Amino acid sequence: MSNKILVATEKPFAKKAVEDIKNICKNANYEFILLEKYEDQNKLVKAVENVDALIVRSDKVTREVIENSNNLKVVVRAGAGYDNLDCEAAKEKGVVCMNTPGQNSNAVAELAFGMMVFMARGQFNGKPGTELKGKKLGIHAYGNVGMNVARIAKGFGMDVAAFDPFVDNEKMIADGVSPVDSVEKLYNTCDYISLHLPSIPETQKFVNDKLFSIMKPGVTIINTARKEVVCEDSLIKIFSEREDLKYASDIAPVKKDEMMEKFGNRVYFTPKKMGAQTLEANINAGVASINQIINYFEKGDTTYQVNK
Ligand code: 3PG
Repeated sequence: MSNKILVATEKPFAKKAVEDIKNICKNANYEFILLEKYEDQNKLVKAVENVDALIVRSDKVTREVIENSNNLKVVVRAGAGYDNLDCEAAKEKGVVCMNTPGQNSNAVAELAFGMMVFMARGQFNGKPGTELKGKKLGIHAYGNVGMNVARIAKGFGMDVAAFDPFVDNEKMIADGVSPVDSVEKLYNTCDYISLHLPSIPETQKFVNDKLFSIMKPGVTIINTARKEVVCEDSLIKIFSEREDLKYASDIAPVKKDEMMEKFGNRVYFTPKKMGAQTLEANINAGVASINQIINYFEKGDTTYQVNK
């Protein structure tokens, strides 16, 4: 019997990406099943019952989803952050979880600059704004997205610094980026701070009073990572005290309404997570996902496994 591959995306991939995944499945003699725009989590729980592999985006692959599957062997998060997968539940059931690092990172980095320009120009309100050229950009976490942000920043003529205790200084220096040895140095020297931290227990609410309180005047924080890495109460407190700060986030905070009401156009939130929502990123991540599944089934390749 051929393997059944379910693509379950509450926020669908571009049509071309779906077609590409479907064709690769067909050529490999795998059965392709599509569940898109589902509103009820139970639909996902039901859909996984008899499939062998699952491709998702930010869809919530909970313990219930995993436990309700009879044949599931591999879940691929078409993207970088896998905070939406219950990796532990998967591990207990022998289900391999993977991500597709780097496949959508240029898209996210480009959106970070879209947001920087948007905020620098007063959300296109017709009044004089400011330029990015000559400003100092601090990249908080220098992974695939951070590296793309650094590359693009140079085109804008920005001075780029980064903090990441897990990346060698030499790597940053080779990219023309100044490494800083403490996160505080990033927050108290930069005009723009771009967040690229994964959401893990150690990073949740990491950007809080301690860092907000040392920011220089006029800082704009751009969050294309996860809302969880910012402490919303700290943000509300500092924005109430200081009128010079701006915050734009790709995915609304829990306290979105309160922030919008209190801070007006000093804050901006995308209606839905848009970072990876490009044709190119969808094709890259979608095709990588199905190829990783095939390589796992045919060759036992676990290169991108995240729950070893
Ligand atoms: C990621 O972690 O890869 C991005 O946040 C993209 O998420 P999305 O697939 O839900 O757009």
